[in-house]
Amino acid sequence: MIFCANFSGIDATLVEVESFIDRKSVLRGIDIVGMGDTAVKESEKRVKSALKSNGFDFMKGRITVDLSPADVKKSGSHYDLPIALSILSATGDLNDKEVFAMGELSLDGRVRSARGVLPAVLKLKETGFMGMVVIPKENEEEAAVVGLDNVFSIETLREAVELINGLKVFESLRKVKINSSEDFDVDMRDVRGQEFAKRALEIAAAGGHNILMVGPPGSGKTMLAKRIPTILPKMELDEILETSKIYSVAGYPGLVLRRPFRSPHHTASVASIVGGGANARPGEISLAHNGVLFMDELTEFRKDVLEALREPLEEGKITVARARSVAVYPARFMFVGAMNPCSCVEIDDEGECICSESERIKYTRKISGPIMDRIDIHIRVRRMNFSEYKKRSLGETSDSIRNRVAAARSVQKTRGILNANIPHRDLEKFVKIDTESEKLLEKFSDRMKISGRGIDKILRVARTIADLDSSDRVLKKHVLEAIQYRAVSF
Ligand SMILES: Nc1ncnc2c1ncn2[C@@H]1O[C@H](COP(=O)(O)OP(=O)(O)O)[C@@H](O)[C@H]1O
Ligand SMILES: [Mg+2]
Repeated sequence: MIFCANFSGIDATLVEVESFIDRKSVLRGIDIVGMGDTAVKESEKRVKSALKSNGFDFMKGRITVDLSPADVKKSGSHYDLPIALSILSATGDLNDKEVFAMGELSLDGRVRSARGVLPAVLKLKETGFMGMVVIPKENEEEAAVVGLDNVFSIETLREAVELINGLKVFESLRKVKINSSEDFDVDMRDVRGQEFAKRALEIAAAGGHNILMVGPPGSGKTMLAKRIPTILPKMELDEILETSKIYSVAGYPGLVLRRPFRSPHHTASVASIVGGGANARPGEISLAHNGVLFMDELTEFRKDVLEALREPLEEGKITVARARSVAVYPARFMFVGAMNPCSCVEIDDEGECICSESERIKYTRKISGPIMDRIDIHIRVRRMNFSEYKKRSLGETSDSIRNRVAAARSVQKTRGILNANIPHRDLEKFVKIDTESEKLLEKFSDRMKISGRGIDKILRVARTIADLDSSDRVLKKHVLEAIQYRAVSF
């Protein structure tokens, strides 16, 4: 019995691959049935060629390969190896064993890496699969962390047959322990000065808040954004597995041991950023899961891309339509946006540009609406002048900032929710403020025309500032600081 896996989103389901041989038929060939897509249909050619070049004679009749359950669409080239094995089992060249296999075959019978090995092996473990598991050598690392017995990696179809028929001794994969990696090649320390921006990033990291940086070119926005993963808490085991599952399904073998930082270019298509498309793969927003999605030059992104961010920003997942089904991929990331204040590059001494208010409004209107309303912290990043640049010593290290972030996160853990995700109805419970702070907030929001949603965001950020201050109560100074991060007007 040969098994393989099919994927919906990042979860695997088992598929049985069975071959029948009609020795009496005058026609010779292979038919694959069971709702396979183009890649599965093309399997026939690769399998034929691989079998031939590995010296197997399958021309003993007409072969029908059946993929079941028959009513589920099957997608991908990883069916090659199980199809070849099932044919060999029908022709009598393979011992009858329970085998799970994945892998694309090259025409000469080499086994190429497969998408989705990690979720597939996790599924086998969950269902208590007792058979032999055969996966491509390139996917060894992700398979080994699951700790399932009888998992073997191979490089050719011939090796797979030798393994299953017991013609050669193979060693099964040994379980490897996962350790998150903190091995970043950048550090907050590299950024001189910019204390205001760094403070805002620390708050954002501590509470899981989205952040928008507005500032002239060269002020260090990109530099700061790239260093955000270095101040976020280390990835936990379940985060590593979940993010790695997404990468596995997207076709990147190996494990994701540190928080991802994804920075898609503004010309990228909706499918590549959001996911889906002809091959139904997770997009950039899912590859950023548990990490940072950085959208540099935010105003340059396509409107439909910005619109599509609504669902993930609110729900931490994305639903993408496929030909006859939908796929749901996780997409919970810290959103970081950066943009110039206007379309000109003329900056005055104050770091402000010379555009008129109405020109600026016109420029920034592109992103107002879908995105602006969902960003907790808005800051201005100013360009340093030379004397400031010279006198600044190196800044604090990412490690020491990260320690404070981690402490604030552990306080939130006791409340059971990250501050950025506190629902409106629980705000009163978690963020109690005194009457003086309330008056202050009222005055500010009236003047700046802040929406109800915006006020909620100020309260959430104030909660995080209080947590960083080890203060159970949210004090006036915390609210005052939180207000600053909404003071960028558009
Ligand atoms: N505060 C700073 N400390 C050290 N280098 C800086 C700083 N600000 C800017 N730079 C230098 O200027 C370059 C451009 O910064 P960048 O982050 O690309 O700016 P922006 O994204 O705002 O246009 C950086 O790569 C870095 O070399
Ligand atoms: Mg930049």
